Amino acid sequence: MFFKKKRKLKVNQEQILKAPLPQHIAIILDGNGRWAKKRGLPRTAGHQEGAMNVREITKLCATIGIKALTVYAFSTENWKRPEEEIKFLMKLPIKFFDDFAPELVEHEIRLKVIGNVEQLPKDLQQKVQEITELTKDNKKMTLTIALNYGSQDEIKQAIQKIALEVQNGELAVDEIDESVIEQHLMTCDLPPLDLMIRTSGELRISNYLLWQLAYAELYFTSVAWPDFKEEQLYEALADYQARNRRFGALNESK
Ligand code: IPE
Ligand code: IPE
Ligand code: MG
Repeated sequence: MFFKKKRKLKVNQEQILKAPLPQHIAIILDGNGRWAKKRGLPRTAGHQEGAMNVREITKLCATIGIKALTVYAFSTENWKRPEEEIKFLMKLPIKFFDDFAPELVEHEIRLKVIGNVEQLPKDLQQKVQEITELTKDNKKMTLTIALNYGSQDEIKQAIQKIALEVQNGELAVDEIDESVIEQHLMTCDLPPLDLMIRTSGELRISNYLLWQLAYAELYFTSVAWPDFKEEQLYEALADYQARNRRFGALNESK
């Protein structure tokens, strides 16, 4: 009997680095819990491993010249999880920021947090402030962590700010255009989103960057976040580079 050989995706890193890379990558870091369960470990062990992986992938992205990486760490819907898990997820970033700070400095990475920071525990808010301040002048790459972030909430807040400006006579209704909306989003200082990666098999957006995703390329993989390493990132980049981004126009070059 003839079995078709399964093609192993071996990507050529050198070739990928010579071709245009996405400027801005967003990642929905999913599958930490399932990763741990598969190994007979508590879900928290998956989150721990996932946090370590954020450090590795961030450094790699900075090294190869990605300008912005935006990762989803805690959604406005994640408060529905068991109290114990939430408690762990509120402590984890404090240690993460402390351990990562010297590397952020070394790699010239600016740290930014989007989401409702003021609803986070005080010690985490302080840490966010501290690391944001420490890295604010770094120019190589921006690492944005979405913490207590929900895209619908972000859009709601943008609308409220715009409405207030109209009410105060600072802005006319017919001046509200796409760029005004963009300027009022939490991502206003980041380049346009080029590539969105979701790990662990779910084919949904889960309230992440709804506006920003308008013309991003979407990449879904069944690999759990803690297993998403250098090879998997290059596979995603190769896939992105093979796409024909038309932005609604005609582009028959590919
Ligand atoms: C992603 O992993 C991290 C967070 C949402 C905090 P999950 O915790 O969602 O892991 P799964 O999806 O249950 O495997
Ligand atoms: C999305 O993952 C949120 C984060 C990765 C922080 P979830 O695991 O919360 O998403 P759903 O519940 O599967 O949509
Ligand atoms: Mg999940």
